[in-house]
Amino acid sequence: MSHDAASGDRRGPDTASVPGPDPAPGAADAGHGSAPIVRAQGLTKTHHGEGAPVHAVRGVDLTVRPGEFVAVTGPSGAGKSTLLHLIGGLQRPDSGKLWLDGQRVDEYREARWAVLRRRSIGVVFQFFNLVSNLTVADNVELPALLAGASPKAARESRAELLAELGLEGREKSMPGELSGGEQQRVALARALVNHPALLLADEPAGSLDSKGTREVLRLLSRFHQRGQTILMVTHDARMASAADRVISFFDGRIADDAQLGGGHRGPAGGVSGVLELKE
Ligand SMILES: Nc1ncnc2c1ncn2[C@@H]1O[C@H](COP(=O)(O)OP(=O)(O)OP(=O)(O)O)[C@@H](O)[C@H]1O
Ligand SMILES: [Mg+2]
Repeated sequence: MSHDAASGDRRGPDTASVPGPDPAPGAADAGHGSAPIVRAQGLTKTHHGEGAPVHAVRGVDLTVRPGEFVAVTGPSGAGKSTLLHLIGGLQRPDSGKLWLDGQRVDEYREARWAVLRRRSIGVVFQFFNLVSNLTVADNVELPALLAGASPKAARESRAELLAELGLEGREKSMPGELSGGEQQRVALARALVNHPALLLADEPAGSLDSKGTREVLRLLSRFHQRGQTILMVTHDARMASAADRVISFFDGRIADDAQLGGGHRGPAGGVSGVLELKE
């Protein structure tokens, strides 16, 4: 498959407000404003490990609209990470359909997913996943370079983000020389350097103390207020309360889907008030 023909042909590198040229059919929510960033229909995934098969995700329907900050909570083993991995193309569904920005992606092959992830999806995990033998600066610039940015543009984006995330002066540090909170901020910078339409975060503060958790939360909220779409898995009720919508996941299914703060969708919906209480 040629490198580039894959997915980006309909959009520029900055995908934050792509209108979705090929809207998903069938629709409980058709005509409900802007086209969804994520639309899943009957998404299913069974893990076949050592013992009996585990039905981790059992037919999930989900729509996430541009600018939403959605938290997915639920007990350990409920299937939250599996769901996030399906949406980011890190695992393939057994059945069901998935559209990202209006494009049907569930049948994409790995090469095509890789291109899509580079351009349009930022991912943050619980354990930073930085490249340990690259400096902070290189960790953040790498995805930009891989996505085709010029070295100068990659440097500029990196500098801007690190300043924004309070990491100025740490460019030459190695990840191992940073605190957990600092490493997680670098991971966030790396996930955001290509201005992804969608940020996926799996327990982004799971290994941090409460100060680190507060920091990550404040940063996520700030990006959300500027319009970043975020889908975040968390155990932590405090983290979830910063979102404007909370999905309770239980036994592979959505058990509840609640809008927080009374506000309807929209980048600023009630988040800052919640945050104020927490500081
Ligand atoms: N690669 C795998 N092979 C086999 N089973 C798996 C695999 N990944 C996950 N599972 C199982 O699928 C179920 C859902 O796992 P998942 O990681 O999605 O849960 P989770 O809700 O993220 O849990 P946690 O809150 O502990 O992170 C669990 O029972 C888990 O043991
Ligand atoms: Mg998990």
